[in-house]
Amino acid sequence: MKEVLALIKKKKQEYSKTPFMEFMRDKSIDPKQRLAWAPAFATFAMSFKDFNRVVLRREPATNKIQEMINQHTYEDGRHWLWFIQDLKLMGYDYSINFTDTLKFLWSEETLHVRTLANNLIAMCTFEEDILMKLVVIESIEATGSVALYEIAQVGNELQQVTNQNYVYFGESHYAKETGHIQAQMDNVENFIKDIELTEAQREKAFVLVEKVFADFTAATNEMAEFAKKHPYDRPFTAGNIKPLTMSA
Ligand SMILES: [Fe+2]
Repeated sequence: MKEVLALIKKKKQEYSKTPFMEFMRDKSIDPKQRLAWAPAFATFAMSFKDFNRVVLRREPATNKIQEMINQHTYEDGRHWLWFIQDLKLMGYDYSINFTDTLKFLWSEETLHVRTLANNLIAMCTFEEDILMKLVVIESIEATGSVALYEIAQVGNELQQVTNQNYVYFGESHYAKETGHIQAQMDNVENFIKDIELTEAQREKAFVLVEKVFADFTAATNEMAEFAKKHPYDRPFTAGNIKPLTMSA
């Protein structure tokens, strides 16, 4: 798995230079506005709960890696609670029409966010090789450690202004994400590095790593675009949220 982890490391560096990360780092923009994409990220944050519970978790585990994956799902599968909590703190917990909510969540402007969730589920649901699922998790965690670091800096700035503690968009979420599968084990990275892959597994793993990073890049860049177009206090109505057309 050494080569796979090396590729993930390279992709992390590329990911840290994407437009979304630059937007997160742009201190000339109000932190509230830099996080104005939060409600538009809902389909991913919520689907991630099901992805962990339904797709990744297999109880009882019959091997060491499934046991690690299960432990991971109990941690990462509950972060949606923090997302909900932060949305409330950020002032997004007010009533809008149900059909407008549906149009918002399934709008053209959040297509990549939904696709990200759908593709992760697609990659893992019928995957027989547990090592490939481990590669997907490692890739997700790598993107998480890059993005959540930048997001936490904005969360901190916002905290200075509002005196509120943001758990999903703040330091505590970043601190929970180690950059690797969250299993109760010493030196997870070395354990993974020492796993031997066949040539065919390695080739497939490279494709999965590239795909996970490409999808996270598209989804997070989409969120930066969303935040540039929609005032933070009017995410559901301002701008021109284009619902899916009747034919779509
Ligand atoms: Fe998380």
